[in-house]
Amino acid sequence: MTDLGPAPDFLIDADGLRERVLELGSEIAPVYAAEPPVLVSVLKGSSVFLSDLVRALPIELEIDFMSISSYGGAQQSGVVRILKDLDTDVEGRDVLIVEDIVDTGLTLNYLRRSLGARRPRTLRCVTLLDKAARRIVPVPVEWVGFEIPDVFVLGYGLDYHGIYRNIQGLIAVNDVARLAAQPDLYVPLLWPQQPGGSPSEPSA
Ligand code: IMP
Repeated sequence: MTDLGPAPDFLIDADGLRERVLELGSEIAPVYAAEPPVLVSVLKGSSVFLSDLVRALPIELEIDFMSISSYGGAQQSGVVRILKDLDTDVEGRDVLIVEDIVDTGLTLNYLRRSLGARRPRTLRCVTLLDKAARRIVPVPVEWVGFEIPDVFVLGYGLDYHGIYRNIQGLIAVNDVARLAAQPDLYVPLLWPQQPGGSPSEPSA
C-alpha cells in the first residue's frame, strides 16, 4: 500500500467557520448601516470567505475583486504587483478589504496603501485568519475571524499550488516539506473516490 504520509488535522471545522462568519456578519453590518460599502476581495483565496460573509451581512453592499502577485513574491520582497485592479471607483466610498489570511502583513500593507491612495471615505479590513506571530509589518486589521498559530493551513479558499480550496473546513499541514515535494499529497486522503484514491479519511 502507498504511504500517503500523516493525515492532515482539522484546525477549524466547517461548523466552527460557519458560526464565526455569522458572528463577524453581525459585528460588521451595523458599521455600514448608513452607506453601502464596497467589499474588496483579494483573489483567489478570499473568495470562499467572501461568499459566506456577504450572505451574513443583511445590508446593501457591493463587491469587487483584485488580484495581486503571489505569496512567495510578497514574502521575499514586500513588492506586490496588481494583476487585476478594481472595476469600481472607490473615492468617497466605504471600503472593506476581505482577506483570507494575514501572515507577514506585507500584502495587506500594500493593499491598504494602494486603496488608501484612492481616497475612500473609510478603509477597513476583515480577515478570516490572522497569523499574528509571523507579522513583519504592523498593519491594522479591524476584524479577525480566528487568530491561528504559525502553521500552514489549507481549505475554505486557501490553497497549495491551486489545490485544496474546496475543503469545507480548515486543515493544518503537519509535513510542509513533504507537501512541497508532492503538492497533491492529500488528494487521495480527502477525495478517495478519485481515480487512484484511497478509502482513508482525514482525521476530523
Ligand atoms: P502576507 O503578505 O505574508 O500577509 O501573506 C498573505 C498571503 O499569503 C495570503 O493571502 C495567502 O495567499 C498566503 N498564505 C499565508 N499563509 C498561508 C497558509 O497558511 N496557507 C495558504 N496560504 C497562505
